[in-house]
Amino acid sequence: MNKSNNNIKYSLAFDVYGTLINTSGIYTILESMIGEKATPLMNTWRNKQLEYSFRRGLMNSYVDFSVCTKDALEFSCNTFKVNLSDAQKEALMNEYKVLPAFADVQEGLEKLKEEGYKLYAFSNGSAETVSNLLKNANIFYLFNDVVSVEDVQIFKPSPKVYEHFLKKINATKSNSWLISSNPFDVIGATSYGMKSAWVQRSQDSVFDPWGIEPTTIINTIKQLPIKLK
Ligand code: 2OP
Repeated sequence: MNKSNNNIKYSLAFDVYGTLINTSGIYTILESMIGEKATPLMNTWRNKQLEYSFRRGLMNSYVDFSVCTKDALEFSCNTFKVNLSDAQKEALMNEYKVLPAFADVQEGLEKLKEEGYKLYAFSNGSAETVSNLLKNANIFYLFNDVVSVEDVQIFKPSPKVYEHFLKKINATKSNSWLISSNPFDVIGATSYGMKSAWVQRSQDSVFDPWGIEPTTIINTIKQLPIKLK
């Protein structure tokens, strides 16, 4: 049984990287390797990782999301003229598998679970990778399931991934929410017809001016329960 509000039963799809899991968790090891270039390289790495997923979606050239991550790391090293050894690159890729959850996540998800909502992790990452990531972050136990775009071999924000999510958990557009800090994901899900919450984790984060707005905006997962009522 999950929470009902006006007899609507909500299922909650949580984006993973950048929403539940802090991709900046890579900073410490990166800074130990390359010093002050760590922040600009880390930002280029994340942006290029996503760009590669978008391009592969348009090209119908699906690969595991970790390939986008690895290729984006290579691009970033070349861009900043940073010569990392294979061992150092492997260490960074391994660190990406054990990134930390944001501080608000475990308590916020526990509250939602207590209120009877069904929680799902929904990601570009493979089910295995995401499951291991969430187990390491000690939040895997809170989820009813992990849904990966690997099942449909295309990345977010293709409408096919949101359609797949609803089919897999046997839910409808009107009774499902997508919760993400990534505007591309929020716009994709909203355009598909789901309800959406944009997790604006930084006041400096800017939402795309497409005229497609999230159902609600939150700054932490803890604010979600009151917004779903
Ligand atoms: C995801 O977890 C990449 O944040 C995106 O699907």
